[in-house]
Amino acid sequence: MLKTSPLNIERIRQQTPSLADPDREAPINHLLACGSSLMPQPVLDAVIEHLNLEAQIGGYEAHEARASTLNNVYNQVAQLIGAEPDEIALMENATMAWSHAFYALPLKAGDRILTCEAEYAANYVAFLQRAKRNGVEIVVIPNDETNRIDTKALKNLIDDRTALIAITWIPTNGGLVNPAKEVGKIANKAGIPYLLDACQAIGQIPVNVKELGCDFLSATGRKFLRAPRGTGFLYVRKALIETLEPIIIDHFAAPWVATNQYQLRPDARRFENWENAYALRAGLGAAVAYANSLGMENIHQTSWGLADYLRQQLSNIEGIKLRDNGHPNDFVNNQLEQCAIVSFSIKGQYPSQVVKKLKDKNIIIGTSSPDSTLLDAQSRKLPVILRAAPHYYNTKQEIDALVQALDMLK
Ligand SMILES: Cc1ncc(COP(=O)(O)O)c(C=O)c1O
Repeated sequence: MLKTSPLNIERIRQQTPSLADPDREAPINHLLACGSSLMPQPVLDAVIEHLNLEAQIGGYEAHEARASTLNNVYNQVAQLIGAEPDEIALMENATMAWSHAFYALPLKAGDRILTCEAEYAANYVAFLQRAKRNGVEIVVIPNDETNRIDTKALKNLIDDRTALIAITWIPTNGGLVNPAKEVGKIANKAGIPYLLDACQAIGQIPVNVKELGCDFLSATGRKFLRAPRGTGFLYVRKALIETLEPIIIDHFAAPWVATNQYQLRPDARRFENWENAYALRAGLGAAVAYANSLGMENIHQTSWGLADYLRQQLSNIEGIKLRDNGHPNDFVNNQLEQCAIVSFSIKGQYPSQVVKKLKDKNIIIGTSSPDSTLLDAQSRKLPVILRAAPHYYNTKQEIDALVQALDMLK
């Protein structure tokens, strides 16, 4: 059993503006951390404080005044994922982070990209673009019997043409957690660059780039990390940074050192630009500090426990079909396979209508359409499905309220 300490949910909810007042007339029941979660007060304070400072003394001056706090965001993010601060580039979202890494790779005709069946759409269309532009081939690694990446099949696919392994760790729906660490071992052994999409993992489960063996990792702020929208980051393994020419540069990424010469920065910030949303960065730093203070393993166990509770309740309702992969979690033996994203459909109900009806009751869940994970949707014949993702700040009562509302819809 892993060591965790129960989170002080009452305190956490007190620190979450929209949950702080239990007597509020129409309290929000937000169960969609995989979309965009609820920010805690310290995050909101950090953003507003910086914006106020910009309004009072000017944007450049606010940046200067808060330079050490803003620089510290690199340390905070690095600490969260077991990296060094100069391996981090702060970005506006996960897609930008992922794309910067992907498009900097010098792939050529005939090179193969190995990816997974549940790969996220934004990544897959970029593969398709490079197939069109550079003639690379996309090879999808087969799944095992629970629809996770089959690592044995991956080993067999690797050959001289394999130029990149790029997978999604936790897909946007399906409750799945791909074996990212095992994939890392295989990639490292074969000396193949490994790009990991950790967009849904960050803030949900512990992330350590050394253990994962990834060369690049992309993440977003607004989902399980509880940072503001418009934040994200890229990790690039130190040894690779200076081998990569970013697809876009400016004079921050690459100072103009002589009339006909620029010099790329030696750190991962060669993927950044000069101008940034510093208020949001302050919020990202506060969100990372908040997650670190609670402990990622505590967050992981709590949110997955609530998701399991939701799965159990949903499985008791006739007409509801769970659409998740993986074996049910066994917390006693720490055999954990299904994450905090719960996918399901309801017989005879349009998902968008369900979301709307629930929203009228202040219950927030979402939908996931086939085109966000097209290969997985095709192979599992998935229609548009419903998606709920409880986070550690939610309660069993909130899940009961969702389940009851769903039951009444039928
Ligand atoms: C698995 C996965 N990767 C990448 C993204 C894109 O993240 P962002 O919208 O921050 O660019 C998402 C968004 O839902 C996602 O679920």
